[in-house]
Amino acid sequence: MTTITTPQPPTTPPRSTQPRSPEGVPLAVWPVAQRTAQWQRAGRYLPECARHPGKMLPELARRIIAEYCEPGALVVDPLAGIGTTLAEAALLERRAVGVELEARWVRLAAANLDHMLEGGRRDLAEIRRGDARDLPAILGDLCGRVDLVVTSPPYACDAGMIDKQAWLAGGRLCPPDTLNYSTDRANLGHARGPAYASAMAEVYAACHAVLRPGGRLVVVTKNTRRKGRTLDLAGLTVTLATQAGFAYLGHVIALHAAIRDGDLVARPSYWQTVQVRHARERGEPAHLVAHEDVTVFSRPATTLKEIADAR
Ligand SMILES: C[S@@+](CC[C@H](N)C(=O)[O-])C[C@H]1O[C@@H](n2cnc3c(N)ncnc32)[C@H](O)[C@@H]1O
Repeated sequence: MTTITTPQPPTTPPRSTQPRSPEGVPLAVWPVAQRTAQWQRAGRYLPECARHPGKMLPELARRIIAEYCEPGALVVDPLAGIGTTLAEAALLERRAVGVELEARWVRLAAANLDHMLEGGRRDLAEIRRGDARDLPAILGDLCGRVDLVVTSPPYACDAGMIDKQAWLAGGRLCPPDTLNYSTDRANLGHARGPAYASAMAEVYAACHAVLRPGGRLVVVTKNTRRKGRTLDLAGLTVTLATQAGFAYLGHVIALHAAIRDGDLVARPSYWQTVQVRHARERGEPAHLVAHEDVTVFSRPATTLKEIADAR
């Protein structure tokens, strides 16, 4: 017989107890990987969620939501994946709507929300299928009322779920359907260079259209390396979001390493480790990227009425 454990609401420290300087000023480095990603999800998320190739750390989603909006706020994720941000938002008493292009992740996100959210909390979160660039039409009458958009865009995804048992039995190391997104070209995970920049510019314009004046946009990206060069996704995000009309408020480092006895213990994926090892063998002085970039923006009031209302 299977034992069913009820997922417990996470314990997110209230803002006042989050890491601060000795003067009481909040720190811009968040240690969100004291526990591994697997441990953060264990017993809470459906095990099938492991099949998605690029999920947000639950502790990072919680930290962003607790920091940048109040209970009762409306949170939107236009690139929602398996719905980490939606589940964590609902557990923190926010209302959440996610949009995801791929039907398989929409189904998994909905099943995961059913699994994680009990009673009235389930009504707080929903996932809709669509293209993030159509966000205003997808949100309908919620447009202009969103308090926080929190999201992590796909980029050049090439990490898959490791199935060690299958591998030891002579099979593949990774189930092929976990290695990347679908072949749908509308999936921004396939866009590169200028095509990626112009697609993400449309996404940020759509986010701007749905946020209320003063609402926040928080984007999580990770700088990657290709052919020996670093791709500065955080820098590109700042450029694109400011061009879409956002004010750039700041940058937080989400540390993907545990702090143990004053040392950093990295939490790299198998793929990252392999990539860096190969780069160093080629003579490239690569390092493990042990953080994600959290860039924070606000949607200023633009019309005369919005400016007057904000006073
Ligand atoms: C980095 S993942 C986000 C994962 C999510 N934060 C989570 O924890 O599950 C990006 C997601 O964007 C989706 N996506 C890509 N292009 C999209 C588009 N045009 N519209 C909506 N979703 C899209 C991908 O299928 C993928 O699930």
